[in-house]
Amino acid sequence: MTKKYIADRMLQEKISLMAQLQDMMHGMDDVIDLSIGDPDFTTPAPIIEAGYKDALAGYTHYTQHRGCPDVIQAVVDYYKRELDVDVDEKNVLITTSADYAAFQACFSTINPGDEVLIPDPSFLCYRSQVEYSGGKSVMIPTYEEDGWRLKAEIAEKYITPKTRGIFISTPNNPTGACMHKEDLEAIVKLAEKYDLLIYSDEIYTWYSYEVPFTSVLSIPGAAERTVVINSMSKNYVCTGARLAWVIAPVQIVGAMVQGGMNMVYTAPSISQRMAKFALNEGKAIMAPIMAEFKERMFKTAERINKIPHLKVQSPPPGTFYLFVNIKETGLTDEEFVLKVLHDAHVTLVPGSNFGDCGAGYVRVCATVGLPKLLEACDRIEALGL
Ligand SMILES: Cc1ncc(COP(=O)(O)O)c(C=O)c1O
Repeated sequence: MTKKYIADRMLQEKISLMAQLQDMMHGMDDVIDLSIGDPDFTTPAPIIEAGYKDALAGYTHYTQHRGCPDVIQAVVDYYKRELDVDVDEKNVLITTSADYAAFQACFSTINPGDEVLIPDPSFLCYRSQVEYSGGKSVMIPTYEEDGWRLKAEIAEKYITPKTRGIFISTPNNPTGACMHKEDLEAIVKLAEKYDLLIYSDEIYTWYSYEVPFTSVLSIPGAAERTVVINSMSKNYVCTGARLAWVIAPVQIVGAMVQGGMNMVYTAPSISQRMAKFALNEGKAIMAPIMAEFKERMFKTAERINKIPHLKVQSPPPGTFYLFVNIKETGLTDEEFVLKVLHDAHVTLVPGSNFGDCGAGYVRVCATVGLPKLLEACDRIEALGL
C-alpha cells in the first residue's frame, strides 16, 4: 500500500522495539509477558457495577463539556480528603484517558517552536504529545545514582528563552522514582523563576512505597501554573475505562474543552459513573490489590538482585515497574531484551525506548502474579548472562 496518503509527521515516527515485541511473541505459547503496563487484575466488581447501574438509569449520553458535575465534585472531594489539597470545581475537567488529557494539555498550551522539558527516561508519549502540538521536546537527564529523581538544578541547565513548560511524572514510568516534597518545591521555584507551566502526571498516585505521595498542587504557587493529570487506569486498575481528570487554571481548562470538542466530544458517560464511585469509595476496595503489587515488587526486586550481573533498587520506590541495570552483562538493553525473549521466552522492554538515559536498563512490569515473576527470574538466571 502506497505511503503517499500518509502525513510526513507520521512517516517520521520511528517504530520502537517495544512496539514490535507483540509480533515477536507470536507463536511462543509459554511466554511470560512482563512488557505491558496494564494491571492484570480485572477492575473490582463494585466499580464496574456502579457504571452498569448508572448506565441502566440513563447515563448513556454525552455529558456536560467538563464532565458530569457530581464526578467533578468527586475529584474535588478526593483531593481534599486523600491529599489535603483544596481544588475549586471550576478547575476540573473530566476527559478521555491520561494520554488524551496530556495531548489536549499540550495542544492547548504549546505554540510552534516552544520547548518543553521532559524527564529522561519517562513515559514515551510525552515527546509525541509535545511534538504533535508543534513544540520541541527537550530531554532532561535523570540518574540511577539520584534514585532517578528529577533534579531542578539539572533541568535549569536546559532552559532557554523558548522554554515553555516542564513535565513531571511521579511515581515515574519506567523508573518507579518518586519525587520527594523538596524535589517538587525546587521544580515549582524553577517554574516561577522562568514562568514555566508544569504538566504533572500523577497516574500512579497510590503506587508510592518510598515516600507518601505528594501532589505538586500542595506546594504554594503551583496551582496557577500546573496541569495535573490523573486517571482510572492504574489507581483503579481500569485501563479500559479510558477516563481521566485534569486540574488546571480555568483558562487552560477552557482551552482544553474548546479543543476537545473537535476531537472527542465529552468523556464516556459510563466510565464517568465508574469514576464517581471509585473516587468516593475506591480506596478501601483497592487496598488488597495495592498490597499485592507492593509484595510482587519487593520480592521480585530481592530476587533480581540475586541474579549475577543484574541490579535493581531494593526496596523499589514506586509503580509496578522495576528498572533493572543490566550493564554488567556487556549487552545493550535491546540485545538483552531480544536474547531474553528468544532464549527464555520472557518479554521485557529496553530502557532506551524511554530515553537515552535508559540505555543499559530494562523495564520489568510486575503485572503477573508473583510465582510467574519468580519463574521469569529463574529463566533469566539460567541464561547465565
Ligand atoms: C506515566 C503514564 N502516563 C500516562 C499513561 C496513560 O494512561 P491512560 O491509560 O490513562 O491513558 C501511562 C500508561 O501506561 C503512563 O505510564
